[in-house]
Amino acid sequence: MNTHLAMKFLGVLVPLALTGFVLADLPPEDAIELPIVPGKFIVEVDSSSNIPGKRSIDAPHANILRHLSERGVGFNVSHEYNSPGLFVGAAITLDDANDAKELQQAPGVIAIRPVIVVPAPKPVESHIISGPNDANVPPDTQSTHVLTGVDKLHAEGRFGAGIKIGIIDTGVDYTHPSLGGGFGPGFKVASGYDFVGDYYEAGLTPRPDDDPLDQCNGHGTHVTGIIGADPGNIFNISGVAYKSTLAAYRIFGCTGSVGDDIIVAALLRGVADNQDILTLSLGAVSAWSTTTASVVASRIAATGVVVTVAAGNDGTTGAWYTSAPGDGADVISVASTDNTYLQLQEATVNGVDHDGIPYYQLWSLAIPGEYPIYATSTNTSIADDACDPLPDSTPNLSSYVTIVRRGTCSFPWKLQNLASKGANVVLFYDDGTGFNTTIDVGGYQNASYIRAADGAWLVSQFVANVNVTLSFPNASTPVFTPAGGLISYYSSYGPTNDMYFKPAVAAPGGNILSTYPLPLGTWAVLSGTSMATPFIAGSAALLLEAQGKAVSLSARTVFETTAQVITLDHSGSGVLETAAHQGAGLVDVYKAIHTETSVTPGELLLNDTANYKGTQSITVTNTGQNLKAYKLTHVPAGTALTIQSNSVQPAVGPVPVSTASATVQLSSTDFLLLPGQSREVTVVIKPPTNVDAKTFPVFSGYIKVQSETEDTHVTYLGVAAALKDAQVLDNSNAVFGLYLPLINGMGTMTAENFSFSGFDYPVLQYRLTFGTPLLRIDLVEPNITLKTTLNHRSDVKQRDSVLERPIFSFPHGNLANTFAQVSIVGPLFEFDYAVRHTASGYASITQGAGFANTSDWAPGYYRFLVRALKITGDLTQEEDFESWLSPIIGYIADE
Ligand SMILES: *[C@@H]1O[C@H](CO)[C@@H](O)[C@H](O)[C@H]1NC(C)=O
Ligand SMILES: *[C@@H]1O[C@H](CO)[C@@H](O)[C@H](O)[C@H]1NC(C)=O
Ligand SMILES: *[C@@H]1O[C@H](CO)[C@@H](O)[C@H](O)[C@H]1NC(C)=O
Ligand SMILES: *[C@@H]1O[C@H](CO)[C@@H](O)[C@H](O)[C@H]1NC(C)=O
Ligand SMILES: *[C@@H]1O[C@H](CO)[C@@H](O)[C@H](O)[C@H]1NC(C)=O
Ligand SMILES: *[C@@H]1O[C@H](CO)[C@@H](O)[C@H](O)[C@H]1NC(C)=O
Ligand SMILES: *[C@@H]1O[C@H](CO)[C@@H](O)[C@H](O)[C@H]1NC(C)=O
Ligand SMILES: *[C@@H]1O[C@H](CO)[C@@H](O)[C@H](O)[C@H]1NC(C)=O
Ligand SMILES: *[C@@H]1O[C@H](CO)[C@@H](O)[C@H](O)[C@H]1NC(C)=O
Repeated sequence: MNTHLAMKFLGVLVPLALTGFVLADLPPEDAIELPIVPGKFIVEVDSSSNIPGKRSIDAPHANILRHLSERGVGFNVSHEYNSPGLFVGAAITLDDANDAKELQQAPGVIAIRPVIVVPAPKPVESHIISGPNDANVPPDTQSTHVLTGVDKLHAEGRFGAGIKIGIIDTGVDYTHPSLGGGFGPGFKVASGYDFVGDYYEAGLTPRPDDDPLDQCNGHGTHVTGIIGADPGNIFNISGVAYKSTLAAYRIFGCTGSVGDDIIVAALLRGVADNQDILTLSLGAVSAWSTTTASVVASRIAATGVVVTVAAGNDGTTGAWYTSAPGDGADVISVASTDNTYLQLQEATVNGVDHDGIPYYQLWSLAIPGEYPIYATSTNTSIADDACDPLPDSTPNLSSYVTIVRRGTCSFPWKLQNLASKGANVVLFYDDGTGFNTTIDVGGYQNASYIRAADGAWLVSQFVANVNVTLSFPNASTPVFTPAGGLISYYSSYGPTNDMYFKPAVAAPGGNILSTYPLPLGTWAVLSGTSMATPFIAGSAALLLEAQGKAVSLSARTVFETTAQVITLDHSGSGVLETAAHQGAGLVDVYKAIHTETSVTPGELLLNDTANYKGTQSITVTNTGQNLKAYKLTHVPAGTALTIQSNSVQPAVGPVPVSTASATVQLSSTDFLLLPGQSREVTVVIKPPTNVDAKTFPVFSGYIKVQSETEDTHVTYLGVAAALKDAQVLDNSNAVFGLYLPLINGMGTMTAENFSFSGFDYPVLQYRLTFGTPLLRIDLVEPNITLKTTLNHRSDVKQRDSVLERPIFSFPHGNLANTFAQVSIVGPLFEFDYAVRHTASGYASITQGAGFANTSDWAPGYYRFLVRALKITGDLTQEEDFESWLSPIIGYIADE
């Protein structure tokens, strides 16, 4: 900013000294870039149409290109899409994004959407095994297969033979011996395509070729193994559907992001190649069903190709935060569960007859030999054990395993004291904090964590002078984990802002051992919804193999209705995890294939209270061979309180739940069905009443359909509030101590002048507490008369401004001089279907980073008018927008 120029303002100055605010910059690391490629759009055209002037031999979008050329618009076309019924159009980069209005006026255009940047896939946790001879490898008993019934299907001889699965990812190392060792017809990875090349990232020019080999990233190879790894490897593991035929569509380079123009191209290629299943372990946070890739993926799913997509790894951010294209209406968005137990390493006890001692490590400490033990305290109640330098009487600890209590000071602090006595191998025992995580031991690699009871036993042996030694072979033991079987903390929460049920279903995604490129280690253990997603794709292959490809249209419903419902925790309270986090539950593939009851639909979408669909019907069909007696009951799940009470800020994950639940009336609850017979049941669901609507409580639960032999269920979800009441733009000071929106990272703002040259431009910073269907920033006259909704603060005086390389995202046509009845000098910024920010995130836009070009503006005085359409609001109704008016911005050209 340039306070020295403020003196040029006339009569509108508020001295900063009077405000009592310390000027402070917002944390730059929390600034969130707009997730779009500037100036690049995906244009959808009406393929059926009799567009005037269209010649029959033309490509469907030829008219648009002609229209642009005739108007002298600079552009180029990076992709042409021509899949009538699915998507017809082109990806077009404009030299000047302001020309987007010309695109919109071109004949036959149905929609213009910005190219969304999808970040490079990043597992939550990862460990790469150095090679097949690495001693530090956990034995894997394929608990994931046991948890989901895949082991029983394998025992029946079902492996996905004859089913084609397209994997859209980073490519694959098909030279891996467990992935067939080759590429092309006859191999496991029978086909594929590289859309991008090694060096691609969103916005750069792709360098496609026919070979999807990936030996530099690894993600896609891991994903591929979860579906397709052959048994007979050193770990005795296999993929869910390892006899299916795979295609690898490589859309990420070695490290970079991808634009959704490429994702759309890969999806359509998968359809053209007749894939039965398409799986995408990728996504960009969206929480709307409307991005191009979401829309195209959903249309593809509706034609009977199963499309599985990761829900996202943003569980800690809270609700309304799932990823696209998983947000597409008919897509299967996949959540992740943690394994019920971890294979932890186990130290061997020598000298006395005693069980091994598990330590919190997936890989052995790999310390050769046997060590006697030394306890730094003989009293296990001493809380600050080893926080002070050890007494002189301490022996040289280098030949011992030193046993130390956790607590009071950090592990590295204790280790420093221990190391000064020569300690090399250290086991810390739990002090009640919980034996449920790895501990941070800094750079000390030979330290690990054991249970409190094991620590107490070792100390008692030490006190009793028993000759006990420990050794650390590579040996693992299953240890039940508190989070085991629960939805992974990182798995994203839905629903979407337009109230679609995301995620749909869960699969194991935590600590998954699978294949990895040979040059990168051959095998790796990764965690994330990226690992859960191919599990569902493989499950779908087993379903299609067993029941025929026609079942693909009901795959999501079958997986949902037969899933295993998951509790919120292991406290025994029985409260179920919100369906906004678990979807319909953990997949049970065996049951999905063998169920003798069909229930439809799988989801009851109740929407919000203003658009409430509380009366719905479900159909129960006996698909078995015997008469069945059915009993229907209501099983509520926890109600997620998605916004903090007395605040407009979203609740972070784990999202708090209330046991307040919906009430459900069923038109019949007990009935008999003969084989083949169906019964329609009317379901009337009323939202919970004893909840605060301002917390935007997402309520959900299950209509359980019980027969003598099995349970199935239908999942319902709604929000006990009108989403139109949700505040979208943050105008509080809750996050940064500075009222938002603001200009140039400053608190209370006065009018300000800028020269609009060099770095002397205003920067507008805003934060969204909820998604918005349309965010729009316009330049207006300073004397505008407009009753804004959000400037009700006495201290609001900001300045703002503008300019340069523009990125309009979705131009709405009325780029003329009014928008929603408000007269404007010019539009600066538009973004449709924006996602909310993280707990400390905000957007920062300025010339060159969001604002449209103002090089043709006259020097003078302006304000920024920020408007955000409320969810479910009407674009043409001014009262459906939240609005905020900046202080006056002066454009004072340098003399
Ligand atoms: C796109 O077209 C512009 C001219 O309009 C040209 O400068 C640019 O190199 C082109 N980009 C690509 C990727 O072809
Ligand atoms: C390998 O795994 C199969 C099941 O996947 C199991 O039956 C078998 O016992 C395992 N073999 C070994 C040596 O662990
Ligand atoms: C303690 O036991 C180990 C083997 O378990 C043995 O090698 C060592 O000699 C014993 N030490 C004493 C002092 O008994
Ligand atoms: C062990 O330490 C606790 C806490 O300092 C103390 O209360 C207790 O008396 C100690 N026990 C012995 C046997 O010294
Ligand atoms: C402990 O013994 C080891 C090996 O004999 C030696 O290298 C180290 O310096 C000693 N440390 C201390 C603190 O005495
Ligand atoms: C670990 O266990 C403790 C004690 O049981 C519990 O309070 C804590 O929430 C657990 N942490 C995780 C990450 O599960
Ligand atoms: C871990 O312990 C082993 C065996 O004493 C030793 O060789 C190795 O250097 C230690 N590693 C570290 C990082 O201290
Ligand atoms: C919920 O209602 C809104 C407003 O009518 C609508 O836009 C949205 O599509 C509905 N969601 C679902 C899942 O039907
Ligand atoms: C605002 O100012 C502009 C010129 O600066 C003038 O044309 C317009 O009439 C004014 N509008 C109002 C409502 O005063």
